[in-house]
Amino acid sequence: MTDTSGIDFLNNTKFHHLKMSGQMRGLKPPPLELSSDHTKKIINLPNPRDANNKSLSVRAAIEQRRSIRSYTKQPLSLGELSYLLWATQGVQEIYPNSVTLRNVPSAGARHALETYLLVNNVKTLKPGVYRFLALEHKLQEYIISSNISDKIVAACLGQTFIKTSAVTFLWTAIPKRMTWRYSDRGYRYLFLDVGHVCQNLYLSGESIQCGTCAIAAFLDDDLNSLLGIDGKRQFVIYLAAVGKK
Ligand SMILES: Cc1cc2nc3c(=O)[nH]c(=O)nc-3n(C[C@H](O)[C@H](O)[C@H](O)COP(=O)(O)O)c2cc1C
Repeated sequence: MTDTSGIDFLNNTKFHHLKMSGQMRGLKPPPLELSSDHTKKIINLPNPRDANNKSLSVRAAIEQRRSIRSYTKQPLSLGELSYLLWATQGVQEIYPNSVTLRNVPSAGARHALETYLLVNNVKTLKPGVYRFLALEHKLQEYIISSNISDKIVAACLGQTFIKTSAVTFLWTAIPKRMTWRYSDRGYRYLFLDVGHVCQNLYLSGESIQCGTCAIAAFLDDDLNSLLGIDGKRQFVIYLAAVGKK
């Protein structure tokens, strides 16, 4: 018997199958960002505009980009990390009706992603997992441990370049933030949105002499449980490793 789960998903999320969304039923939109854990340390990030990025034309960035899985031992500076976070999720405007405009597009400006970082080699940061607080443009310690990288490599089917990256981005989706507006069709948009985010990482990385490699081969349950998320209300959707070329 052929597996039809992919085509079933496409059929079930056609407009004429959709139920009334939360927005149509007059429900309040979910918050723009997960709340931060007040027991965990917050780290200020340098102004992303101060990163030492060479002026690179869009054309050159597009032409030079490759998926790079081998990195030098040169660390990223905190300013460079700040720049990559700004390029991928940086907030430009916050509106009172639970809407943000950011450096990446998002269906209905729902911005239903949260960014976590596996930090291996970034100046002044201890190795471990951090969360990006996009609204404040700050980092928060999440799991400070040097052996978390081995566990993340195992959950990504042994892709060892994750451990030698300076930093690996782990994007998670909060489907409610998207389905509030689009009902279950919103699941499609989560995957489209994160593709734009990752492409911005590839291109901004080029301008600070970094190579990037997208990663979608991972064991969902293992990675979700490492981050302590339930896999339904929040799940890992995509990763990308970055390091100096
Ligand atoms: C959706 C997606 C998932 C990917 N997953 C992985 C992955 O898990 N591991 C990996 O090494 N490369 C992964 N890649 C990188 C591709 O292998 C790479 O883009 C492809 O070989 C073309 O090479 P280029 O990016 O240098 O043009 C992924 C790329 C995309 C777009």
